[in-house]
Order: sequence, then structure tokens, then C-alpha cells
Amino acid sequence: MKLINGFQLMEYAKKYNYVLPAFNTTNLEMTYAIAKGLMDANLPGYIQISSNNLRLSNPEIIAKIAADAVKKSETPIGLHLDHGKSFEDVKACVDAGFSSIMIDMSHLPFEENIRESRRAAEYCHFYGLPVEVELGALKGKEEDVVNEADCKTDPDMVADYVERTGCDTLAVSVGNVHGLCLDPQIDIPLLEKIYKVSKVPLVLHGGSGIPKEVIWECKKYGLIKINYGSDLRKEYIHTFGEAYEKDHNEHDVIHLSIAAVDNVAKRAQELVTMINEH
Ligand code: G3H
Ligand code: ZN
Repeated sequence: MKLINGFQLMEYAKKYNYVLPAFNTTNLEMTYAIAKGLMDANLPGYIQISSNNLRLSNPEIIAKIAADAVKKSETPIGLHLDHGKSFEDVKACVDAGFSSIMIDMSHLPFEENIRESRRAAEYCHFYGLPVEVELGALKGKEEDVVNEADCKTDPDMVADYVERTGCDTLAVSVGNVHGLCLDPQIDIPLLEKIYKVSKVPLVLHGGSGIPKEVIWECKKYGLIKINYGSDLRKEYIHTFGEAYEKDHNEHDVIHLSIAAVDNVAKRAQELVTMINEH
């Protein structure tokens, strides 16, 4: 299969009542591992890469690797820009063949945030791609961006923000945390309030560590996509770390990289299965 357009992927998820996991990739091995995990589970989802990570892997190369990784897939898989931090990154990813885009202008003052999000959304829509934006801010560490403030989404701002940005999905801050938080406290009543006023489906960032029962509950309130980053990165790094612990002269990159792909794929398979068990 080819990478699937983001609008079609969401339609597919709605039709079969799936929550779509979006797994962060960093490099070639992670990209193949994520595709393998989704294919082994035969469930849909996204490979995604953050703006930050584009410093390591340029969009055209990632798009080519992702297209190759999903070519034997019988389940729809999209390629998403995560936390798109500039119009230039958004444009580069659209032009490279990504299938959906997140615009994260949270570093800008509110009105500028809306203006820049709208500008990027119009570019994406011109090419038929859906756009995710975020209202509120998550506590924790996403790649090397650290945020201490826990700024939950204000339901009173949702309708206006969705309307003015022209977004197709809304990422919310309801107690979800970026990073390896083992006990995130998801505020379901707040999610319900947001759901009631949002014209678009909702997205949860900071998926690592959220218990499955909570995710199943969120599904009742418009959740369509959940992001997983740290959980898979941990699997990847552990593979090499364990080998090094056993033997400080370990240098078998090929076998360890293959093992890392298998371990990350297994974790991705577990997660996509878990969130859709119910
Ligand atoms: O955008 C990516 C994420 O929100 C990943 O969060 O590392 O807590 O799973 P996580
Ligand atoms: Zn995130």
C-alpha cells in the first residue's frame, strides 16, 4: 500500500471505530519498526516525525523510507509531521509527500499563533491534507523542548480556536504529559466538556504511560489519535544499552539494530492492539 492521505485515514478510523496511534520515529530503523508493528497487528496508524527530529532526517528521505516501509502493508498507514514548528517545516513536509501535518505555534503570542496556524492550514488544505493544532500546553519533555507549566485546554476557547485556525483535529491538554510519566492524571470531565464544543476530533499527546482503561474512556469523547514517543524510544535504546551492559566491547551494530527494530515493532504492535481492544 502507498502512504494513505490523512483525511482517508481518519475516515477509515471512524468507520471501524479505531483510535489511531501515532508513533514517533527518529531514524530509518524506528521507521521500519513502526510500520512492522502496525502491519503485524494489521491495524491502522501513523508514522510521525517531529520538526525537531527533522534536524537529523530530512523530510524527503523520511518520506521515501516511510513509503518503502509500508509498501507491503494491508492496513492504512499515514506519515504525519508532529509538532510542526515553522511554516518552512510544514511546507517541506507537504512537498515531500507527508499525508498529514501538525502545526504547533504554541511558542507564539495567541493572535500570531492563530494567524500562523491558519496560514499553514491553508497551505495543507490546498494540497488536500488535514491539519492538527494544539490548544493549551503539555507539561513534560518532548524531544529537547521542556515545559514546566501545566496549561490545560480551556473549553471556552475551543470553538473559536478551531474555527479561526481552520484545523481538522485538535490536540488537547487534559492532564496528559510528554515523556515517561508513569501516572498521568487524565481529566475525563474536562475532555468531555471539550468534546461537546469541538467541531473536530481530538488528539492526545503524551500517550506513553496512559493506562488502557483511560484511553478506552477517552474514546467516548472524540479521541481519534494518540501519540507515542518515549515508550518506543526506550525500547530502542534499551536494546543497545543492555548489550553494552553485558559486554563493554560490544560493537555488532547490524545485529543490534535488527534486534532494536524487532523490539520497537513488538511494542508498537502491543500499543496499537491495546488501545483498540475495546
Ligand atoms: O508528540 C509526541 C508525543 O506527544 C509523545 O509523547 O513521549 O509522552 O509518548 P510521549
Ligand atoms: Zn507531543
